[in-house]
Amino acid sequence: TMDDTRAAGRAIGRDRTVAVVGTGTMGQGIAQVALAAGHPVRLYDSAPGRAAEAVAAIGARLDRLVEKGRMAAADREAAAGRLHAAADLAELADAALVVEAIVEDLAVKQRLFADLEKAVGDDALLATNTSSLSVTAIAGGLRLPGRFVGLHFFNPAPLLPLVEVVRGFATDETAATRAYETMKTWGKTPVRCADTPGFIVNRIARPFYAEAFRVYEEGGADPATIDAVLRECGGFRMGPFELTDLIGQDVNEAVTRSVWDSFFQDPKFTPSLAQRRLVESGRLGRKTGHGWFSYAEGVERPAA
Ligand code: NAI
Repeated sequence: TMDDTRAAGRAIGRDRTVAVVGTGTMGQGIAQVALAAGHPVRLYDSAPGRAAEAVAAIGARLDRLVEKGRMAAADREAAAGRLHAAADLAELADAALVVEAIVEDLAVKQRLFADLEKAVGDDALLATNTSSLSVTAIAGGLRLPGRFVGLHFFNPAPLLPLVEVVRGFATDETAATRAYETMKTWGKTPVRCADTPGFIVNRIARPFYAEAFRVYEEGGADPATIDAVLRECGGFRMGPFELTDLIGQDVNEAVTRSVWDSFFQDPKFTPSLAQRRLVESGRLGRKTGHGWFSYAEGVERPAA
């Protein structure tokens, strides 16, 4: 049945349940945002115990907000009362919106959505947080692909306002509008875009990284100098070297490769050899203590 909300493409009501599937880095952040917007939130993860851990982790983050005076204690209690872990997909039956944030693997995502479509109602909005896969491809096996959208949040989701609302080839206008309007009620800054590789941000960011890496590879300047130039003169909060050390060289390279492959290996998206060497040698950035820069013994490099 198509209720009035769906027909009008209006935001999903705060009283309706939002389900988040995949409760790692992004799933937890997205769940926190939905919770803050007032929704009852259900968490599901295929790894046993992971959804319950996420409930605890989100609770701890809300506690810190209360300590800092950025959230009232009563609001924190109310939010905690609306957050629950689900043991299986059947417990997501009453969700009006499901946001998927599981592993970045097309076949695994397709399988999940085939199962999800059996668990939730026909008017539930289904969304993927994929950063590099095709929204159209993920929706490929759905019975009702019209209600499927991309909702691409950025890490950390509670802090970064931008959300790319991605319309796949089969996404209907009502679903795209509903998703867009819902993001506004969540306090986000949604932008609409079509299903092209890397969407807007991850595509336009490719040459930001690639050209910087190439300048370094050609002996033009060292990473600290290039970062300083982009911070001081380019107005970026972080330069491409320090930023990829934060993101993880493996994660950043995977996105580059995905965009490059999606454009049939167009040379303008060619990955960096120097970055390949970092990944091969396990110098993945802050998380391993070394990347472009060294973070050994907790000592950060001196500022450029
Ligand atoms: P993560 O590895 O932190 O969390 C993924 C979670 O999904 C894990 O808890 C895992 O147990 C669970 N999972 C895996 N397969 C599952 C399945 N079949 N059913 C249910 N749960 C399953 O991953 P992360 O970083 O949170 O990324 C999730 C998604 O968000 C990916 O599609 C990624 O491309 C996208 N994304 C990631 C960003 C980031 O900066 N980490 C930014 C924007 C999007």
